Amino acid sequence: MDTHTKVLSSGIRHSNLPESYIRPESERPRLSEVLPCKDVPVIDLGCEDRTKIAQLIGDACANYGFFQVVNHGVTIEDVEKMLGAADEFFKLPVEEKLKLYSDDPSKTMRLSTSFNVNKEKVHNWRDYLRLHCYPLHQYVPEWPSNPPSFKEIVSNYCAEVRKLGFRLQELISESLGLEGDYIKRVLGEQGQHMAVNYYPPCPEPELTYGLPGHTDPNALTILLQDSQVSGLQVLQNGKWFAVNPHPNAFVINIGDQLQALSNGKYKSVWHRAVVNAEKARMSVASFLCPHDDAVISPATQQHGVGAIYRDFTYAEYYKKFWSRNLDQEHCLELFKN
Ligand code: OGA
Ligand code: NI
Repeated sequence: MDTHTKVLSSGIRHSNLPESYIRPESERPRLSEVLPCKDVPVIDLGCEDRTKIAQLIGDACANYGFFQVVNHGVTIEDVEKMLGAADEFFKLPVEEKLKLYSDDPSKTMRLSTSFNVNKEKVHNWRDYLRLHCYPLHQYVPEWPSNPPSFKEIVSNYCAEVRKLGFRLQELISESLGLEGDYIKRVLGEQGQHMAVNYYPPCPEPELTYGLPGHTDPNALTILLQDSQVSGLQVLQNGKWFAVNPHPNAFVINIGDQLQALSNGKYKSVWHRAVVNAEKARMSVASFLCPHDDAVISPATQQHGVGAIYRDFTYAEYYKKFWSRNLDQEHCLELFKN
């Protein structure tokens, strides 16, 4: 790639899809076959009945791997500021953004494109800013200083989302019949990463992806979707479903680590982002990740079922994940007993 084509958000509107983004026929999204938003559960965290919330979350994790939350405690103002900062960042002149460009996944702060440009055969119609977010005092200094309010807005958002993530981990623990602090305890001091995803309008959305089908390698993902433009799809029973934006909701999904910790009871489900011809789409994904040294092993064993996966450290898992292409087999398959 030459410098001009390093990122998609260059201010140039593409009139056709470059060859390197075109998927072979059998791998295309087949958008006309995608089913409209199915009932990805919307769970009200403001509900008084905690047992009920935990039960709804448990059902969602076991059956869908995905759910949405409302009354989640992050204010509308904080959410809007986050989206505003993301928008301003991607509107910066391309020369300014390219100062932050890297395709090295080990960098703790980088603007990049597609997924893993050095490993993948076909590229994806996405630019993304990847940040490490915990501990904030360690990482904020390396974040973009443009727009000028970026650091303050995003660090505030990260702190709020982290609180929500821990609340959800508590409810997930309870839903598995474990002590409330179980997940938090075994995952150790959790890292937090953010991907600010920008999907520009795409001349041929039928031929490519924003992100191809993948599962998230971390423990728990808290996704803020663009409130206007849909694009997230999840796989259920072999079919893709659109998860259209729900007002003031976050989309939550179980990552590979909670699938392993629950011995396969809770699912880290395949999902993808598709693009569209007219509108740019933004999403902000926050990932809670076990500490590198945390040993992931099953907390629960269903009667008569042995441990499905061998024990591993998160560091080992994460290294394996980034050594591969995004749309290969489920990374957890490589850790099966
Ligand atoms: C991700 C992801 C979906 C989206 O960043 O891992 O799945 O809608 N994003 O952007
Ligand atoms: Ni994902």
